Amino acid sequence: MTSPIAYFNGQLVPVDQISISPLDRGFLFGDGVYEVIPVYEGVPLRAREHFERLQRSMDEIQLANPHTVDEWIGIVEKLLARHPGNQSVYIHVTRGVPAKRDHALPKGLPPTVMLMCFPLASPSKEAIENGVACVTARDFRWEKCHVKSISLLGNVLARQLSAEVGATETIMFRNGFLTEASASNVFVVKNGVVAAPPQDNLILLGITYDLLTRLAAEGAVKLEIRPVPEAEVRSADEVWLTSSTKEVLAVTTLDGKPVGSGKPGPVFKRMHALFQEHKAKLARRGTVAA
Ligand code: PDD
Repeated sequence: MTSPIAYFNGQLVPVDQISISPLDRGFLFGDGVYEVIPVYEGVPLRAREHFERLQRSMDEIQLANPHTVDEWIGIVEKLLARHPGNQSVYIHVTRGVPAKRDHALPKGLPPTVMLMCFPLASPSKEAIENGVACVTARDFRWEKCHVKSISLLGNVLARQLSAEVGATETIMFRNGFLTEASASNVFVVKNGVVAAPPQDNLILLGITYDLLTRLAAEGAVKLEIRPVPEAEVRSADEVWLTSSTKEVLAVTTLDGKPVGSGKPGPVFKRMHALFQEHKAKLARRGTVAA
């Protein structure tokens, strides 16, 4: 099989021909940020919003952005010309390659920039119709979860708790309140009203989370953004996961117990339909704008 084409520091090259220095700060310290953008039939969903979030992540870690949003979108288009169909574009920026290992931030280093594509694995029909299983855990990550950092050890270890029991995600609580899952945001529904945790430093503000809040408003679905106590998650009628690769998925068992009726609920079905309509509209317009 030929190696897929990636973008590495200004050039399109086969993935297997990229070599990264062991001194790269991404390799040594996990010192960098990333993005994942879903692409449907060649059309990226909310590319601009993803690159605006990349800018916020870079600002938070004091890393100068080598590109404008338009330049980033241009690079994505170049890569997509080589990868038709449904893709997820992975964007990775590290603080570059200093002469020696030193925790303190080096000055004036060009960042390492790498983009690659993977075929987008959208949720299966089975997962959409029956929902998925999740487990819960204490959120043991740091306090800058709004930064989309490549240092993902906390998320990786959280995800492993669900992987070990064949579940899809690990939903986390910090000090008795819902934060998010290891690689997704979480919404709950009680009596027809949706609730989502605040957009603060304890969660990643998902581009899908943000889209869902807009679609809910347009579709007259009641949605509140506020702290969500753990007990409310455990007694919710519906729980959902959202992410760029999961879209919106119903959680039908939590720690082995059914959520609500144990089937994807009516508010989920409405939200899922609104999401699919939005995707279809976007594909018809063939645009990168939201
Ligand atoms: N993860 N929270 C965390 C911790 C995440 O890693 C992600 C996405 C989300 C959802 O964000 P968005 O809707 O912008 O995809 C929330 C990506 C998909 C990943 O790491 O692969």
